Amino acid sequence: MRGMILAGTVLAVGVVGAAHAQAPASLTAEQIIANRQAGQALVGASFASMKHAIDTKSTDLKQFKPMAEAIARWMGVFPDLFPPGTEEGHKTKALPAIWSDRAGFDKDARNLVAEAQKLAQAADSNDPAAFAVAFQNTGKACGACHHDFRAK
Ligand code: HEC
Repeated sequence: MRGMILAGTVLAVGVVGAAHAQAPASLTAEQIIANRQAGQALVGASFASMKHAIDTKSTDLKQFKPMAEAIARWMGVFPDLFPPGTEEGHKTKALPAIWSDRAGFDKDARNLVAEAQKLAQAADSNDPAAFAVAFQNTGKACGACHHDFRAK
């Protein structure tokens, strides 16, 4: 009897734990993957517009402050969109390393948050040289994660 109660408790805790770690049941794995890809597509497009501003020697850089801040905010929640069960589907390019080296993945995401915040500051300063340096550093942080955690 006691064994049964214990087993029931362990089971209940296990279920609650799994529900917490996984995405809401209302979203399918395909939807979660589509969400993270759409967000990254926006990040990519935003990044391209910043590169264009640098290439054309724009002196109107303050406009990128909210964009860089949004990238930082997004990257703060991006790892939440990789719950167990979303390793495959929707042509994901996510590599298995995300789930085997979660700490490394989270660290790369935090690193990008920090670099994007610096990019926002550089944009606010409207200093082209500072903005270009911050942009490069942010790009390196994108590349570091893609190198280890995204398929080519
Ligand atoms: C913490 C890791 C990480 C960081 C940092 C990161 N990415 Fe990604 N990115 C990924 C992963 C993983 C995918 C693949 C997602 C999938 O297919 O499920 C991806 C996908 C993309 C895509 C393809 C989106 C699509 O249409 O499917 C673009 C574009 C992109 N990232 C741009 C960027 C840029 C630009 C940065 C830096 C500003 C960046 N990423 C930073 C992990 C990261």
